[in-house]
Amino acid sequence: MNAPLTAVNHRLYTPANELAAHAEHLQAMSLSDLLVSDSASAVQRAESLAFTVGTLHVDFSKQRLTTRTIALLVEWAQSCGLEKKREALFAGDVVNPSEHRAALHMAARWPAGVTPPEGMAPGVSFCQQQRLNMAEMVERLHCGQWFGAIGQAITDVVHIGVGGSDLGPKMISEALSDRPSQAHLNVHYVSSMDGAQLLPLMERLDPATTLLVLASKSFTTADTQFNARTALAWLSDSLEVDVATVCRHQLIGVSSKPEKMTEFGVPEAHQLVFKDWIGGRFSLWSPIGVSIAIQLGMRSFNALLEGAHAMDHHFLETPLTENVPALLALVGAWNCQFLNISTHAVLPYDGRLKSLPAYLQQLEMESNGKSVCLDGRSVTHTTCPIIWGDVGPNAQHAFYQLLHQGSHTVSADFVAVAKRKVNATPRVEKSLATQEQLTLANCLAQAQLFALGDDAIPSALRGHMAQGYRGNQPNSVLLLKQLDAWSMGALIALYEHKVFVQSVLWNLNPFDQPGVELGKKLANSLCHTLEGNPAEQSVVSDPSTEQLVRKVGEWRH
Ligand code: F6P
Repeated sequence: MNAPLTAVNHRLYTPANELAAHAEHLQAMSLSDLLVSDSASAVQRAESLAFTVGTLHVDFSKQRLTTRTIALLVEWAQSCGLEKKREALFAGDVVNPSEHRAALHMAARWPAGVTPPEGMAPGVSFCQQQRLNMAEMVERLHCGQWFGAIGQAITDVVHIGVGGSDLGPKMISEALSDRPSQAHLNVHYVSSMDGAQLLPLMERLDPATTLLVLASKSFTTADTQFNARTALAWLSDSLEVDVATVCRHQLIGVSSKPEKMTEFGVPEAHQLVFKDWIGGRFSLWSPIGVSIAIQLGMRSFNALLEGAHAMDHHFLETPLTENVPALLALVGAWNCQFLNISTHAVLPYDGRLKSLPAYLQQLEMESNGKSVCLDGRSVTHTTCPIIWGDVGPNAQHAFYQLLHQGSHTVSADFVAVAKRKVNATPRVEKSLATQEQLTLANCLAQAQLFALGDDAIPSALRGHMAQGYRGNQPNSVLLLKQLDAWSMGALIALYEHKVFVQSVLWNLNPFDQPGVELGKKLANSLCHTLEGNPAEQSVVSDPSTEQLVRKVGEWRH
């Protein structure tokens, strides 16, 4: 199943077969053969593989590819019908057949005054109305006019959600946390099912001034429901008012199921709704992002949407040979399908981007971590690689050893920020500027060392420096001019479209996640078993699980 297409297929000309043959040829070369040369063609190669969209610069020149590879990859994408499928996506066609839905997250960031594609138009007006509702709530909070159950103004917001209802808002909030809004509201994120993140907040926050944002597309996810119930019990007990009163004053709901919010007790005026054609992991632009807006203000939230829309426009209008999301996808597919690299590291060189790897893990692996095609057939090659990563400079002191001298070939995205604006004393500013420069230098050095290995050692120092660096770890460098809302919007939309393009190449549905359902059902049954009331049609029994159930029971009672 993992084998790439082989020479047997070469008789038949298809772009994929041609790419397989081309991959064999390129595998025989080292990355330094491609990169390091005095010839004008090496310079030209580097230049032709770097692209700028607004404040985002993406450099593919340390990938194992040539301009011929790009031409073949583009031909492959065309043969898969990418251009037509891209149009269908933006037109609101059903691109998620298993759930019979469109995937119109772009509607949530479509600007007023720009005519959307025909099929997207109704969606855009719905999203704009919800954005207005959201802006009103944010304004009330920012003006200190939102009062809790015992009449005190809200100071803290606890966003409760999980997966797509948590990772995106949390990642953006962290990335832009040094851009304070005027409002001094503290936003906290709670996702873990066990209440471990909630507990310290309940100990620390003032129940009279804490607002809960309950974010859940389905409004049934157990993790979120149970965290919310515990938080409501805390507010009700501490304020000595009933839960219904707490819900009326200290709860905002965000979901695609308004009826479920009403049933739960979220007052209609505090409900933010989005449509089911926005997938959970694509939803940070929708009211699911309300906590971003509460933390940073609507101005920043709108700038985030503008950056994402700029990337939508680029993706929709730019020829594939210069289309950055399409190229990011093609390069990724080239690495895993044709060069057999099954693991991909995301390495941000900025502490504010610490949650980017986790966010991309869900975005990419929940979308394209599949092996059954849209036509029901099993794929015959590798699909989405394993995505992982951490803050680069810290990871240099942790797992880079394996990347430099271990036995695995890994591809990587280095993500860096060119400049940072800080307000501090001149001495602190200067010192921070030195730290930034050091970080950028480390990023560029590591990207070079990943690619060149020992060949990164300058000739004058050969023999004087430790050797044994494997090199040949292909990587891209994504450079943001600054870490602001616009750039973050563009960066995340870039990855979203990467996921869509790869799904077209692999003929997958990227917008459902059937593989996560059974685990939830089994856990429900095991919950009854642990309570001592096994459900009638309980779990399939196996001695391994049974002995763990016994041990848990022994230690809990
Ligand atoms: O378990 C997977 C999942 O369904 C994700 O796709 C989703 O983002 C997450 O759970 C949370 O779902 P919801 O927003 O419906 O609570």
